[in-house]
Order: sequence, then structure tokens, then C-alpha cells
Amino acid sequence: MEIAPAISFFISIFEVMISRATIDKIFSAVRVEEVIGEYVQLKKAGSNYKGLSPFQDEKTPSFVVSPSKQIWKDFSSGKGGTAVSFLMEIENFTYPEALRFLAKKYGIEIEEDTRELSEEEEKEIRGQRDLLYKIHEVANDFFQNQLLKTEEGKNIGLAYFRERGLTDDIIKKFQLGYSPENRNAFTEYALEKGYKKEILEQSGLSIFTEKSPQGIDRFRERVIFPIHSFSGRVLGFGARILKNNVKTAKYLNSPETEIYHKSKILYGISQAKQAISKDNLCLLVEGYMDVISFFQSGIENVVASSGTSLTKEQIKLIKRLTPNVTLLFDGDSAGVKAAFRSIDMLLEEGMNIKVMLFPEDHDPDSFAKANSGDYVKNYIQENAVDFIQFKYNVLNKDIDNDPFKRTEMIKEIIRSIAFVPNRLQQEILVQEAAKLLEVSEPNLFAELQVQKVNVEKEKPAPSLSVKLEKVEKATSIDHVPPLLFLESKLVDLMLKYGDKKLNIKNKGEIKSRTVIEEILRHLGSDNYEIQLPLNKKIVDEIREGYQHQELRKSDFFLNLMDEDITMKVTNSLIEPHQLSDWSKHNIFFSTEEEVVGKIVRDVVLRHKREFVMKTIKDLQKKLKEGVENPIEHYDKITQLNSLKIKIDETLYRIM
Ligand code: CTP
Ligand code: MN
Repeated sequence: MEIAPAISFFISIFEVMISRATIDKIFSAVRVEEVIGEYVQLKKAGSNYKGLSPFQDEKTPSFVVSPSKQIWKDFSSGKGGTAVSFLMEIENFTYPEALRFLAKKYGIEIEEDTRELSEEEEKEIRGQRDLLYKIHEVANDFFQNQLLKTEEGKNIGLAYFRERGLTDDIIKKFQLGYSPENRNAFTEYALEKGYKKEILEQSGLSIFTEKSPQGIDRFRERVIFPIHSFSGRVLGFGARILKNNVKTAKYLNSPETEIYHKSKILYGISQAKQAISKDNLCLLVEGYMDVISFFQSGIENVVASSGTSLTKEQIKLIKRLTPNVTLLFDGDSAGVKAAFRSIDMLLEEGMNIKVMLFPEDHDPDSFAKANSGDYVKNYIQENAVDFIQFKYNVLNKDIDNDPFKRTEMIKEIIRSIAFVPNRLQQEILVQEAAKLLEVSEPNLFAELQVQKVNVEKEKPAPSLSVKLEKVEKATSIDHVPPLLFLESKLVDLMLKYGDKKLNIKNKGEIKSRTVIEEILRHLGSDNYEIQLPLNKKIVDEIREGYQHQELRKSDFFLNLMDEDITMKVTNSLIEPHQLSDWSKHNIFFSTEEEVVGKIVRDVVLRHKREFVMKTIKDLQKKLKEGVENPIEHYDKITQLNSLKIKIDETLYRIM
């Protein structure tokens, strides 16, 4: 694959140089469908793959991956690009971060420019986020080392985990650690390694005060649970106190940082993602220890919300892997409350849910310790109920034949149904509820309408940015002025069919020109100014390359750093109709490729026509405002009008 010289230049701006040879290797090893397959369930559709957009809520798949072109396109959000752009989008990686991630995945060794960077350069080049990731990695290693290699760690931390029944394997798998009693063991270690006070402070791992200018560790004399991102990077830590009776919080967690957002992570997701996808089910528990104990019992499709009520972002993480969730909570009242809150949230996201409470005085951890893995699995399968039954079981207990309380219970159940986005499913759920509650269906449907209104009212109004996004989307589809639309279409045609030879009729002669030649000629004539900045960028690139006789393959653009260009190229390479596999139904279209010549001619003419009309309008406007030489303007308008008539005639003949 050809890589533009521009790339290594761009990369060098961002970070220690990744050699060009390495970038080449990465791009040729990467399979976009494999990379994306870890985040989105993909199904084969013709020569492409299809799946549900990981960026937007949707019920019908509009996310397409093309293995032959090595690109993806999300029709619901309009995003698209290469494997690298996908990772940048979904993991918030920078370009070099995405490259490094892929290199690791495909076992490619990264060659770096060995030049030592000055402190200034280091500061400029390495993003703050980069450093945060790094310091967490360093801390994670430190805590694990403390647990496994030091006397204090072994005697206190490791002994604690063993007492709780954890095996060495599972301790390693979850990278559990220990932070010693010493006030600044980690801070001192990190400062000595050359990490700056500022980054230690930002990470939340160290606290500097006037009294303790040398710094104090946030976590002291605690066992450490690293919290990983979907892809397995350490983003933060949870730290548990060792004695249960001490009057400080049982867990201390990392504060919100640039990279750690409590509401966007699920504990265990990195370790559990494969099992969740394979089992097509996600078990949701509350605590770190619950996840770990389940894993040790051989149940690996489990994540924890870490004691907070479930958020939309967390649900989206699960949704990438499966639509099915079983909530597993403690049998106490806090567990019930947590379950109630999570149910509506999950329903709203279109998830299929079941709920199970463990027997009183058990949590998932203790239950898994007391029983075999198979028993636990079976127990969940047999005792998990749908949300209607669950709410009924909980609420029906306290009714004591009170008709008012009974009504409240019914309302409470129907309210949850109102969150379900699919109407057919709503109907089925109402029917089910009617049977269980022994109430007539029409009455329940009436109540559903009331609850729907309530639920809608309670929803926060969409933020301004969401509104703007909607407006932008609408305009991009419905209200693009024809001139801009045609201009973009011309750029598309160059990107798609650039080197294809066409036979062009010109004053009776037939000439052979490539698509790029023909369109560049057209765009270069009549002082036409390219209207859209992105189009201009691309046309300039093409012109430049053409002068140097470089072959302009679309790959060239796909590997460029400029994500706008990548997106545009992707848009022209994957079309919406590729979503549905028409050939399966024996419906075949003559492909654009077969009629490229005609299309180019047609679009060029139409574009010219629009440009003529725009010029006429501009002239008329000037006339109205008053000009010195109105006659010239009138002449010009007459000329342009007859040109327009000629174009119309030609267009008519082509049709
Ligand atoms: N939690 C927290 N801070 C606390 C208490 C709890 O952040 N002071 C979060 C932790 O993520 C914890 C989860 O809530 O894992 C569930 O709490 P709990 O069930 O009390 O903790 P367990 O993980 O079960 O821990 P353990 O079994 O060791 O008591
Ligand atoms: Mn517990």
C-alpha cells in the first residue's frame, strides 16, 4: 500500500516518530473488519459486513464495513473511514495512539526515531492524555509489584486476597495490587522516575499540599483494583480498605480525570467483552469483588456498574456486544432500589432485560464462593425473571389487599413499559402485564399513553449541541444547494474512478481522457472557484499529484492524516444502497462504473449549468444595487442565458 510522505511528517508532530516502514506494515496488516468486529457485531451482507452503529441508537443496521476497500461507514451518524479512524472515534485515540494500538494487536514492532527529545519538545509533543495513560500504567505496575514482590505487600495485601479466596491466576488476570502504608511510596517512586508533580496531581494518584510539598499518595494501605477501558488500558483505580471496622470509606476511587469518567466505564468490560459477545448476554453486578468472584467460578460474561446507578454511556458499552442484560443484585433493599433505577434506563436503550435478586444476605460474590460455577449459572437461568414479573414480585408483597396500593403498583409497571422504544414490543409487554395483573388490556393501554406523556415530560430537553446537530443533518440531506451538491459529486467521481479512461467527444473529435483529467479541465475553466473548503482541499491534492504524475488511488487519501478527507473519501466509496443486498433478490442495477462516462458528462454539464445560473443571479443582484456599467452586465447576462439554453439542449439530448 502506498503511503504518502506526508504521513510520517504529520506523525512526527504528534509524538516520537513512528517510522514510515512501521506505518506501512501496520496499514497492510490491519483488517478493518477484525478491528471493528471487537466492538460491533457484524453480519455478512453481500461483499460487505453490516451491524448496528456503535455511535448512535438504532434498530436497523446502518453501519457498513467493506473488507475489500478496508473502510467503514456509519450511515446514521455520517461518520466513516479506516480502521485507524474507527479507533480514534470509538476510543478517543489520537492518530499515533491508534497506530500503536494496532501495532500491538497485530504483533508489529514499532520502530521509532531514536532521537532524544528535549524537555520542551517532550512537553509539546506528548499530549497530556498520553502522559495520564502512561502514569496509570506505571502506577499499575508499581501496585502489582508491591503486592507480589514486597514483604509488606505479601503479608498484608496478598494475604487479604487469599483470605477472600482469590487464586493467583485471578489476581494476575485482574492485575490486582497493593499500595503500602508509607505516605508517599508511589509518589516518591514516580518523581524519581522523572514524572512531574503536575501530572501526578492531575492523575489523582498524588496530593501535594503546603504541609506536604513532597506529596502524599491518594491510596495508602489498601488493595488496588485497576479499572480498565474497553480496550484494556488502565484509566483509574479503586482501592479497598483492609479492615472492615475502620471508619473511613470502604473504597477510595480515582477522581474524575481527563481519562477516567466514572459514568462511562464498566468494571471488568475489558476482561469480559469476549465472553459477553460469545454468550450474547451480559451479567451486570454491583461490585469489583462480584465480577472477580464470578470470573473465578468460570462465569466470565460479567461487568460491574461500581455501585453507581447505571448510565446511558455504560449501557452503550454493553450494547456494542449484546442486547441482552441480566441484572444481578443483592437481596437487600439497596439492591432492589438499584435494580429499579437501572431497569428503565436499560429499557429506554432498547435492551432485553432480566432481573434476579440473590437470596437475602448473599451478594453475587458470596453466592459464587458458596456454590459451584455450574450451580450459579443454572440458578441465574432459572430464577431470573423479566422486569414485569420482577417489579410485581417486589411491589406485590406490600399491598395487603389495598386497592390504592394495587393501582400504584400497576402504574409503576406500566411506567417502565413506557420506556420501551419499540411499539410492537410495548404492545406485547402490555398484554403480558394484563395477564399477570388481571386487568383489562384496553385500560392498560390507556394508562400506557398517560405514562408515555409523563416519561416524555421528565426527559431533559435536548441540549443546544444536539439540536444543532439535528439541524446540520437535515440541511446536509435536504437543503444542499444544487451547485454544491454537484461540486461534491464531481469530487466523488474523481476519487472513485480517477484513472478510468473515457472517450470524450470534443468538437467532432474523440479524445481519450481520464476521469480526473476531464473533471480538472472543467473545474479549471471559467474562473470557477471551488465552493466547499473540503472539496478545494481534495482538488488541490489531486491537482498537485497529477502534475507529479503520481497515480491517485483512493488509498492515498485513506491513509492521510486528515480525517475530513478520509471521511469524504469513504463517503464516495461506500454508498447507501450497499446496505441492502439487492442481488440476493435477483435485482441488479447497471452499476455506476459501467456508465461512468455518461455520468461524468452529465454531472459536468449540470454543474456548469448551475454555475451559469449562479453567475446570472450575482449579476442581476449587482444591477439592482446599481453599477457603473449596466450595459456590460446586461450583455453578459444575455450571453450566459444563451449558454444555459445550449446546455439544456445538450442535457436533453443525453437523457
Ligand atoms: N463502592 C465505592 N465506594 C464505597 C463503597 C462502594 O466506590 N465506599 C463501589 C465499589 O465499586 C464497589 C461497589 O460500589 O465494588 C459495590 O459496593 P459493595 O457491594 O459494598 O462492595 P464489594 O465490591 O462487594 O466489596 P466487598 O465485597 O469487598 O465489600
Ligand atoms: Mn461484596
